[in-house]
Amino acid sequence: MNPIKSLIREMADKRGRSRENLLPIMQAVVEREKYLSEYSMIEIAKQFDIPAAEVYGTATFYSFIETRPAGQYIIRICKTITCAMKGKNQILFAIQDMLKVKLGETTPDRKFTLLETNCLGWCHKAPAMMVNNEVYTELTPEKVRDILTGYMKINDQNLN
Ligand code: FES
Repeated sequence: MNPIKSLIREMADKRGRSRENLLPIMQAVVEREKYLSEYSMIEIAKQFDIPAAEVYGTATFYSFIETRPAGQYIIRICKTITCAMKGKNQILFAIQDMLKVKLGETTPDRKFTLLETNCLGWCHKAPAMMVNNEVYTELTPEKVRDILTGYMKINDQNLN
């Protein structure tokens, strides 16, 4: 059986098929595959016996559920008021300039996807961003360039 199909089925068996379990199952799929594919949404819909459109609607409601193929590292810049006032745009420009992508895009080598998100709860250390599950705060253009260079090096080491 397709591994994602079994993951969805196992989780649905374990947690139950009521609507409050939709989100944890979607998150588990995203953790495994980096995004929620159409295939996964249809499988979830079948397991929960609900229309696929409802799964899609739930997925797109949450900015953390990616419904498009994403890079190995998903950068999420906080766009909420405190970060916006503390220079989020300079951080965004520095990343766009370095990776040559715009918001919502993935680098051609599929290493990085650049997204915005709502408040990460680190307003007292704004501006903030996440790279996958790691939070980075008090960002400056220099700091963000160093952070991304670090991620590029991890990849390079893995390739050697
Ligand atoms: S406003 Fe950016 S972390 Fe809260």
